[in-house]
Amino acid sequence: MKISSMSKKLRKPAIVANWKMNKTISDALQFVDECRKMFKEISVDRVDVVLSPPYTAIKAVSDAIGNDNIAVAAQNLYWEEKGAFTGEVSASMLADSGCKFVIIGHSERRHQFGETDEGINKKIRSAIHGNLSPIFCVGETLQQREHDETFKVIRDQVEKGLDGLSEEAVSTLLIAYEPVWAIGTGKNATPEQAEEVHGFIRSILRETYGRSVSETVRILYGGSVTPENVSNLIKEHNIDGALVGGASLKADSFVKIVAGTFDILK
Ligand code: 13P
Repeated sequence: MKISSMSKKLRKPAIVANWKMNKTISDALQFVDECRKMFKEISVDRVDVVLSPPYTAIKAVSDAIGNDNIAVAAQNLYWEEKGAFTGEVSASMLADSGCKFVIIGHSERRHQFGETDEGINKKIRSAIHGNLSPIFCVGETLQQREHDETFKVIRDQVEKGLDGLSEEAVSTLLIAYEPVWAIGTGKNATPEQAEEVHGFIRSILRETYGRSVSETVRILYGGSVTPENVSNLIKEHNIDGALVGGASLKADSFVKIVAGTFDILK
């Protein structure tokens, strides 16, 4: 399957696999091998494909993908460059291991590891300083949505996370909207629900950084993305790709998700 040269999308779609705390090195290498065989049959150069292994498999995955059209992301980092921070990993260490991207502020980190907007802001700054593109995650809980607080929560997370960053810095990042109630639940946001929040995030970027930056930043959707629902989500104007958890663990379903974006590139 070849993708036509005309894209209906302004921004290049990105499909990011977030493996979370899954896969040994050999599991990861097997995935890359399977993926690569399937990617040979489909042309993926109009989609950015990113794999986020656990720290232990980053180097092995980045060596294995070589010059393939796949990039590697870490799932977290610490904002200091080096020093006495037992258990932490810095931006330069991740870049040294082959990462081009880093996920920052995932809701599992916010809720299970107590990450704050202030800490997330420091992580975003250190990632950009270390030449990594942050994939900055935001999203409301079910309770917040039910209390009509979605827009307030999202504005707060976006503004605090990006506080003090220049236009140039902001244009290097991706934002992932991941409603907490849709993560790992099998209950994805509808395309309309997601588009409403994506459009809102883009309007915040426009207010603060201007039109050109707001039109550059890719906003991904995450939360129970599957091969079945991805095309309908990505058809929406402001949805520029997906951050995928469970359905990214098997090469077969991940490749189908990547292929699902082709519908909207025709
Ligand atoms: P699921 O795709 O398993 O819902 O996870 C989404 C996610 O948290 C990606 O970062």
